[in-house]
Amino acid sequence: MTKGKKIILLFGGQSSEHEISLKSAGCVVKNIDAGKHDIVMIGITRDGRWLNYRGSPDKIADGSWEKDALKQSRESSPVRDENTNSVLEMINNAAGGKSETEKTVIFPVLHGVNGEDGTIQGLFELAGFPYVGCGVLSSSIGMDKGFAKIVFGREKIPQGKYIVMNRKNISGKISDIAAKIRGELGYPCFIKPCNAGSSVGVGKAENESKLETCLIHAMQYDRRIIAEEFIKGREMECAVLGNDAPRASVVGEIIPGSDFYDYNAKYSSKSRSRVAIPADIPEKTAGKIRKYAIKAFKALDCSGLSRVDFFLRDNGDVLINEINTMPGFTDISMYPKLWEASGISYQNLIEKLIELASERHRETFRATCSHKK
Ligand SMILES: Nc1ncnc2c1ncn2[C@@H]1O[C@H](COP(=O)(O)OP(=O)(O)O)[C@@H](O)[C@H]1O
Ligand SMILES: [Mg+2]
Repeated sequence: MTKGKKIILLFGGQSSEHEISLKSAGCVVKNIDAGKHDIVMIGITRDGRWLNYRGSPDKIADGSWEKDALKQSRESSPVRDENTNSVLEMINNAAGGKSETEKTVIFPVLHGVNGEDGTIQGLFELAGFPYVGCGVLSSSIGMDKGFAKIVFGREKIPQGKYIVMNRKNISGKISDIAAKIRGELGYPCFIKPCNAGSSVGVGKAENESKLETCLIHAMQYDRRIIAEEFIKGREMECAVLGNDAPRASVVGEIIPGSDFYDYNAKYSSKSRSRVAIPADIPEKTAGKIRKYAIKAFKALDCSGLSRVDFFLRDNGDVLINEINTMPGFTDISMYPKLWEASGISYQNLIEKLIELASERHRETFRATCSHKK
């Protein structure tokens, strides 16, 4: 068991998944063993300000923390927006100084761009503190659907056909792209920003005439775009936990309440989407999904956690869709639910992630030191 740590919880952020992060963080903070660990909360506003927050965790999910944090910051000190402290200094201050590295764990409950894509993980590396979840490389590859597919392909994890392009290839050349898609993928096809999440910017092009609309929509979110063959099948998700010897959870199924699992199907209160845990599938298929989930986790050199998502065709074929290196963490989110069904409670899961963060940091730190000698 780890000794008590100072846990620096980061939430919010500038990505389109700001609100989901708040909901996740509200649950994470309540499930950290407060009798054992000290918790420091830092919220990142939509416009990128880092604010210390000392109020009730109940105010995180609905966003009302922000007003309180701004008030607190005016009354005390360190906020970045006043140019008083750099972000690195803020982390150092929260930890109680550089010498406290071993006693600190940063928990970035952040989804999407700048939170789950290796950028903020790079900052933690610079600051030298342990942090929960994947490192810089695995986060950035996991976030970029085009690059993740290259790695999955190398590892021979089955997946659908795809084409990656960028804005320059697309502008003014829609008919060339339409022809390429017609030849290589067929219709319908899926068009997505390579770097996004929560289905933001994802569209189903039913036919060639809908293609342009989908491309223009996706290009609002990223310079790089991926077109994918449409896969008709059920959606399966598997949670992975660990560092070098990761474990896979039971498999869960998402049953979208609409044509596909779009933003509303994921988050609207009116959504008819459901989950089935464990999924009603043959044990052999579940075993295959677990095996591929671990393979994907290792292929990207992930650490801590990831949720790996698949399609299951009627003929039993399993195809990987994507990997999420910081999956949703609300108490009804798939990741903690899958572990609960696999025998690890939400509280124990958080404790395990804190341990894994310290473990990974110790390993990495040793390598850095020996390199210097
Ligand atoms: N190639 C595909 N074939 C069929 N459905 C797809 C395909 N790609 C995505 N989808 C649907 O769109 C949803 C969101 O796509 P996904 O790639 O998971 O993006 P995000 O990272 O935003 O979750 C999926 O859960 C699924 O319902
Ligand atoms: Mg997804």
